[in-house]
Amino acid sequence: MQKLSGKTALITGGNSGIGLATAKLFVEQGARVTITGRDATSLEQARASLGADVLALRSDAGKVSEIEQLMSTVGEHFGQLDVLLLNAAAGSPAPIDLTTEEQFDAMSAISFKGVFFAIQKAAPLMRQGGSIIVTTSITNQVGAPNFAVYAACKAAARSLVQTASLELAGRGIRVNAISPGPIDTPGFGRWDVPKEVVDAARTEFTNRSPSKRFGTAHEVAEAALYLASDASTYVVGAELVIDGGISLLM
Ligand SMILES: NC(=O)c1ccc[n+]([C@@H]2O[C@H](COP(=O)([O-])OP(=O)(O)OC[C@H]3O[C@@H](n4cnc5c(N)ncnc54)[C@H](OP(=O)(O)O)[C@@H]3O)[C@@H](O)[C@H]2O)c1
Repeated sequence: MQKLSGKTALITGGNSGIGLATAKLFVEQGARVTITGRDATSLEQARASLGADVLALRSDAGKVSEIEQLMSTVGEHFGQLDVLLLNAAAGSPAPIDLTTEEQFDAMSAISFKGVFFAIQKAAPLMRQGGSIIVTTSITNQVGAPNFAVYAACKAAARSLVQTASLELAGRGIRVNAISPGPIDTPGFGRWDVPKEVVDAARTEFTNRSPSKRFGTAHEVAEAALYLASDASTYVVGAELVIDGGISLLM
């Protein structure tokens, strides 16, 4: 039996990596899915690979006006929303002393401000029994050299999940987080640094991991499916870590 039969889902950053793998799994499990991203080409490729029923919309997750427009379009298309996965993120590593105000603002717009306003703007669309899921990161629990702003935004997002879950519980909406460790996606290593730096980071994560490997986007998607489905109806305000155990050693 399909786990999301008859449900509607919106996935931000659904044209790549974890978001795309989750969109694929949600479609397989019977959901009607909308994905977002900024890049028109990969959005169209993702839509073609997911099937004709999937709606692919260009929308910047860091701009409140675009979030409002997105929710309005989703409302017109679906009527109501059962599942919202706030997953979009981008950014490159930078030490604190080299981080510019522009980089700070761009990162926090997508990973914190955008998450806050997406929850606010989507809440009226969410059906009783709905599930909001935020993709955080294991960096929100530890020091993360060269990822200060990213990690702090993910910690803010984790905090937001707890407060939003309390504010929305009375409306029958659950809010939870999925917290990936190192996951093999196009986003990992799409950084503005030499390739050797990315390769060294990849080797270090692999060696330090108790599982001795990166996770797959599908493994994270399975966690999102659990939180999206009625299998998790008593899970509220939680953060599900999918990291092969690496954060236990950090
Ligand atoms: N991979 C990992 O190791 C890892 C670890 C911890 C947490 N995470 C988290 O997992 C999530 C997914 O990352 P991923 O690894 O799957 O990366 P990815 O393959 O690069 O996917 C990121 C997605 O976010 C979208 N995006 C970026 N900025 C956006 C914006 N301003 N507006 C709308 N969409 C935007 C991208 O689409 P466009 O480029 O078209 O905008 C893309 O679809 C992120 O929240 C990331 O922080 C990943």
